[in-house]
Amino acid sequence: MSQLIDGKMISQQIKDELREEAARLKARGRNACLAVVQVGEDPASTVYVRNKKKACAYIGIDSKSYELPEETTEEELVALVKELNADAQVNGILVQLPLPAHIDEDRIIRTISPEKDVDGFHPVSVGRLWIGEKGFLSCTPAGIIQLLKRSGIEIEGKECVIVGRSNIVGKPMAALLLRENGTVTVTHSRTKDLKNVTGRADILIVAIGRKKYITSEYVKEGAVVIDVGMHRGEDGRLCGDVDFADVEPHTSAITPVPGGVGPMTIAMLMDNCVETIRGQEERP
Ligand code: GUN
Repeated sequence: MSQLIDGKMISQQIKDELREEAARLKARGRNACLAVVQVGEDPASTVYVRNKKKACAYIGIDSKSYELPEETTEEELVALVKELNADAQVNGILVQLPLPAHIDEDRIIRTISPEKDVDGFHPVSVGRLWIGEKGFLSCTPAGIIQLLKRSGIEIEGKECVIVGRSNIVGKPMAALLLRENGTVTVTHSRTKDLKNVTGRADILIVAIGRKKYITSEYVKEGAVVIDVGMHRGEDGRLCGDVDFADVEPHTSAITPVPGGVGPMTIAMLMDNCVETIRGQEERP
């Protein structure tokens, strides 16, 4: 029997821990505030932003909302981010992606102060991660590490294969697994004989954005499979990058979609927000 890795339950556990911690910090006069910026009205972004604000309210983190029109110029957005950088009341800044095509996302990410970069996307945060310095971790990969640890799955010495090399998931995932002493391979669209590489994985992490792409042919018997994908299937139901029904019987543990990786991203964003008010003495 394969173990179903329950992201809904684990993310709730983390949020409850953070809620207690935030209350303790508040009693000592420390209060976190997250500024959430959305440009335009992309429906998926609106749902994500709403859920992030709801999570803040649950944990006891203040949130400030900036809902800007689609026509907002890059200069206007840069000016807002600089204002938030300078605002002592604001501890964390999140600019929801994607931004409209006329705005340079990289420039906006670089404008956010690394000390308030709760998404962990700033090059300084990325650099700190790779050299093992403390800094904000990219939320989805950090959530995957928590899923593995809290499900009792050891990473040290394991063959870890990542499918996908995005800046948001694949690359930071490699750094985090390396930090946990995994042996890490990153595959991508130009990888030759992908099945042969994924077939070596003890832990297989899939973030390619292609519906049910990974079938049992890609998976070693007894592997742990983590599915970062999120799609709407032909039957109208949500599904991932992994063909769950086909792959699950061959795994020792697997994440479902929905209810696997998805809920962890917001939980780890909340952890980064609480991190902004942890004193040196509380830093893990
Ligand atoms: N869009 C999709 N995922 C994310 C995320 O984790 N952070 C931000 N800022 N935008 C996103």
